[in-house]
Order: sequence, then C-alpha cells, then structure tokens
Amino acid sequence: MSSILNLALVTICISIFVLSPISSASPKSRPFKKVYVFGDSYTDVGNTNGSTGPHTFRHVMSLPYGRTFFHHPTGRYSDGRMVIDFVAESLNLPYFPPYLNKSADTTHGVNFAVGGCTTIPYSFFKQINSTWDTVTQSLSTQLTWFKDHIKGSGCKTIKSTPAECKAVFEGALVWLGEMSANDYNYIFLTNATSKTIQKLTIKYQTRFIKNILEMGAKYVVVQGLPATGCFPMPFITGAPPTDRDDIGCVASKNKESYHHNVILQAKLHSLQKKFASAVIVYGDDWHAYREVYKNPTKYGFTERFKACCGIGGGPLNFDPMNTCGAPGANSCKHPSQYMNWDGLHVTEGMSRVVAKLFLDGGFAQPSFPYLLKKAAESRV
Ligand SMILES: *[C@@H]1O[C@H](CO)[C@@H](O)[C@H](O)[C@H]1NC(C)=O
Ligand SMILES: *[C@@H]1O[C@H](CO)[C@@H](O)[C@H](O)[C@H]1NC(C)=O
Ligand SMILES: *[C@@H]1O[C@H](CO)[C@@H](O)[C@H](O)[C@H]1NC(C)=O
Ligand SMILES: *[C@@H]1O[C@H](CO)[C@@H](O)[C@H](O)[C@H]1NC(C)=O
Repeated sequence: MSSILNLALVTICISIFVLSPISSASPKSRPFKKVYVFGDSYTDVGNTNGSTGPHTFRHVMSLPYGRTFFHHPTGRYSDGRMVIDFVAESLNLPYFPPYLNKSADTTHGVNFAVGGCTTIPYSFFKQINSTWDTVTQSLSTQLTWFKDHIKGSGCKTIKSTPAECKAVFEGALVWLGEMSANDYNYIFLTNATSKTIQKLTIKYQTRFIKNILEMGAKYVVVQGLPATGCFPMPFITGAPPTDRDDIGCVASKNKESYHHNVILQAKLHSLQKKFASAVIVYGDDWHAYREVYKNPTKYGFTERFKACCGIGGGPLNFDPMNTCGAPGANSCKHPSQYMNWDGLHVTEGMSRVVAKLFLDGGFAQPSFPYLLKKAAESRV
C-alpha cells in the first residue's frame, strides 16, 4: 500500500502545544438554553449505534471506540469526544443526547445527526446503483425527526409561523455539522459525477437551512466540508501519486470540498440577507483542517495520516474490509498524538483542536464571539 502513497514523514519533535481549555462563556453562564444538532458521523453521538450505520464502521459499539473519555462505546465514531461535545462544554451545557434515545433528557438539546447519512435523499443513490455503504437516512430524515420532536409545540410544518415556533427556538442554537462528504463518496463506481453531487447537495443543504430559518431559528451554525483529500479514502480509491497538494493530501479531492464550501458560503450569505434578524455562522472546517495538517506538531500531533485504530500498518493503517473494532485490529498507545482515529473519522485530540479553532481561533465567519454577543444582546 505504501507504494501508492507519497506521505511526508512528520518529524517527531517535542511539542510545546499546551492543551489549553477551550474558552467558554463566563463561568456557568449559558448563552443558549438548548442546541438542536444535525449532521453525519462526524456529529452523531449514538443515533446509528452501529446496527444501522455504514457497514465499514460497523464496530462502533465495541471498544476501542470510546476508550479515551467515556471509557465505553457511546456510538460516537471516535475514541472520545467530538466537536459537538466540545461545543456543549464551551456553552456550559450537558452533552446533547441522540434523538433515538427516548429516555434521555432533552431539556438542553437533542442531536439528530446520523452516521453515513447523506444530504441528497436516498432515492437518488438507489437510482444510480450506488453500492458503496449507503444508508437510507438523509438530511430530510433528520428534519422529520426534528418535527416529531417538537410536535405538540404548535410548531409543526415549515408553514408554521415563527410565533407558533417561539417556544421551540427561543434561546436555541441550531448546529448543522459537516454534511455531504458521504454524498461525494457514494458515487464511487457509479456514473454520477462530482458536479451533479455538488449541485444536488447544495440544493438540499440550502433548502434544509431555509426551512429551519422559516420556522423561526435565530442562531444557526453551519460547518463546511473538511479537507476531504486528507483522509485515507481517496488515497486508496485510486488517486494517482501525482494528485497531491502542498500538504501531501489528494489535491483533486481537496478542491472538490473547497468548491463545495465556496458555493455553500454564497448561499449562506443570501440566506443571511433574507433572514436579517438571524445570525448565520459558517464554521470553516476546511481551513481549520488544513491549518492542523500543515502544522501538526504545533497542535501536539506526531501522526497525520495513519489511523490510530485499524489493521494493516503502513502509512495509513487502514483496511476498509477490516476496520477499527474488528478482531485483530489494534489501537495506538497514545491516541492524542494521532489526528486520524479509524481511517475516516478523527480522534478526540483532533476534534478538540478543530472545535477550538472554530470557537476562538477565527475559523468561523462571522466569529463565534460575535454570535454569543448577539445572543446575549437579544436576552436583555
Ligand atoms: C441500536 O439501534 C437499533 C435501531 O434503532 C435499536 O433497535 C437497538 O436497540 C439499538 N442498540 C443499542 C445498543 O442502543
Ligand atoms: C439513554 O439515556 C439514558 C438517560 O441518560 C441513559 O441512562 C441510557 O444509557 C441511554 N441509552 C443508551 C442506549 O445510550
Ligand atoms: C441500475 O441497475 C439496474 C438493474 O441492474 C439497471 O436497469 C439500471 O440501468 C442501472 N442504472 C444505472 C444508472 O446504472
Ligand atoms: C455507465 O457507464 C458505463 C461505463 O462507461 C456504461 O457501460 C453504462 O452504460 C453507463 N450506464 C448508464 C446508465 O449510463
């Protein structure tokens, strides 16, 4: 496998990066009462629990998933906490429980994100005969779940007026985690083009955000696509060794996610104009990821591409047929020194850094402090 790779060795040097806590609003203050969370496996905290998620990562309910912080598997596709967990901490709120756990306390929020899910409805992937690990849930499934969650509030359909939905959105933040990476992956070995996926994902993603705003959401954060060319998948699905960018990632794939984000941001700008009293924040995953891939040691990492948990060793330690949690898979001694957890998802260490870059590192437009300021102003 190493012959198809051209990974620069990261020099192991003594890191001076200090794991400083993510700055939060002043102690015990709660800028938001609750958070509604949407997304895919980068944000899922237990809605798939392995049985309904992508087959490749079907061992998510076994150790070593969850080994770092919770010390047991929780359904998170990571060794520990994810970006949304660090967001909860910074807002002084408990972790947002998965929607499908009906016995969880949802006073401070609910997480509707589901691993493997797509932005474009499943029927599209069925029609193009995608065989690559597709799941049936999409963003519209999550909207249906959301409506089910708020039923009884008088806020039922997208035709409900903001007044009817006041109780639902008062003091609430809507967080749309990274979406559409799966859509681009699921066209592997089909006739559909990346351009088609771009057109459709932008359409459905924009429609979802518009629906939420029409219902009365006032504070919305939308994460863009991460630098998808830095994950092992494109390396092993045939990107030629010449297809690399300045940081050793697959250039064509990073361009694909970059262009998606540019169009998404333009859509967010027009929605911001249309819904002038709302605050819409773009979470710039792509540049945050690049920043860390460029300067791993600054952030305490010694491994950029190699999966902490997996089989196969080599520069990626990733075998899609035998992933983390399968018999024979090992996980590394120090996950906090790795950026990549299981070949597709990131470690708690990487999530902490990305969350910090969003929340107070300037990798959000407008900034997170601005969002908190606006939310505070509306409460006085
Ligand atoms: C996982 O989800 C399925 C389907 O929603 C459910 O039947 C099962 O009980 C869940 N398992 C766990 C361990 O939560
Ligand atoms: C569901 O939430 C309850 C209450 O927080 C918790 O005790 C239980 O373990 C959760 N169930 C699963 C399958 O995570
Ligand atoms: C999908 O498969 C069906 C049945 O084999 C076939 O009739 C159809 O043409 C295929 N569609 C595409 C887009 O390849
Ligand atoms: C998809 O592409 C393959 C190979 O180019 C071709 O044989 C097939 O007919 C195409 N299918 C459709 C439905 O366009």
